[in-house]
Amino acid sequence: MQSYQPQTINIPVCKPYLWENEIRYVNEALHEGWISSKGRFINDFENKFASFCKSRYAVTVSNATNALHLAIDVLGLGDGDEIIIPDFTMMAPVFAILQNRCIPVFVDIDETWNMDVDQIESKVSKKTKAIMVVHNYGHPAYMPAIKRICDKHGLLLIEDCSEAIGAEVDGEFIGNWGNISCYSFYANKIITTGEGGMITTNDPKIFELVKSKKNMAFGTEQFRFEHTAVGYNYRMTNIQAAIGLGQLEYVDHAIEKKIQIANLYMRYLNGVPGVVFPPNKPWAKNVYWVFGILVTEEFGCSMAYLQSILSAQGIETRNFFTPAHKQPFLKGLAIKGEFPNSTFIHLHGLYLPSFVALKDSEIEDICNIIKDTQQGLNR
Ligand SMILES: Cc1ncc(COP(=O)(O)O)c(C=O)c1O
Repeated sequence: MQSYQPQTINIPVCKPYLWENEIRYVNEALHEGWISSKGRFINDFENKFASFCKSRYAVTVSNATNALHLAIDVLGLGDGDEIIIPDFTMMAPVFAILQNRCIPVFVDIDETWNMDVDQIESKVSKKTKAIMVVHNYGHPAYMPAIKRICDKHGLLLIEDCSEAIGAEVDGEFIGNWGNISCYSFYANKIITTGEGGMITTNDPKIFELVKSKKNMAFGTEQFRFEHTAVGYNYRMTNIQAAIGLGQLEYVDHAIEKKIQIANLYMRYLNGVPGVVFPPNKPWAKNVYWVFGILVTEEFGCSMAYLQSILSAQGIETRNFFTPAHKQPFLKGLAIKGEFPNSTFIHLHGLYLPSFVALKDSEIEDICNIIKDTQQGLNR
């Protein structure tokens, strides 16, 4: 029997990019011997990240999934508390809600591919304690309206900024609208530490709690082993922070490059029937973490067919997320409501390669294949 040969992908959807100083900083961390979770790169990365995001405090963590778990924990949420969250999201924030024994309450998305602000209030109940915003695919949710709802109903506000570092609403960065925010530095993110994440807040009490609980909730000085709470090991290493610091020095360039890539795709694909571009509201700065398109009926063939054509030419694409209401692991939860928009983009959405080192000529090639497929030349 012939063994299965995985398709060699020439242009992946993403790959990390190292700028100037990452290797030097990692070498310094290694030579200085600070290879675990203490060291100058941790402090430097946290301080500079806070300053970049215009947040008062930033705390490194092992990844965003843990960051979200910890964020809900330190806000004191637990048994049966309801947290409102978009139906269309990567599932890590939903895991974090369930890990804290809270109940996710799902809202459909609007044309920004984020939680539909107009539907949120209909989901607020006596048990609702918080809203968890997820800024999907680089475009921010409309935070002023969400903040107003939180203030009106006395709800806590958590932002998952993993896919949208540097995105803005009305000229203000995301990540400072609520009580606590989380970021991911997984290898496909706009800046990466391999694995890693950050929690930001402007609240000194939340900051102290996060710092303590991410590091075992140790006691102080001679009482170190008298733990003040149930703690976690959600620490980032100094080596990862060294990479992060090098990445952060070029975060503006990385964002600029993502925007350029998106603009080039939109130039080449302009007018192609059945190709819908990602949202870009006038009040928003979309940082285009990925370049996602919707392939609708007008395109003339299925999205899966287009993906197979691209794949045959060595071009990787990814389907959009599977929404919460379609998740096998949530089958036991009686999810209320209708989610037509989230279902639509799930069925019609794919994202194209959009990493920093992607060449303009590669974008042109990808777009030509898409155009030829639409015109039936590849059928
Ligand atoms: C919105 C969102 N939240 C959380 C995560 C989880 O991040 P991590 O891989 O750092 O745990 C991701 C990862 O892709 C994400 O997209």
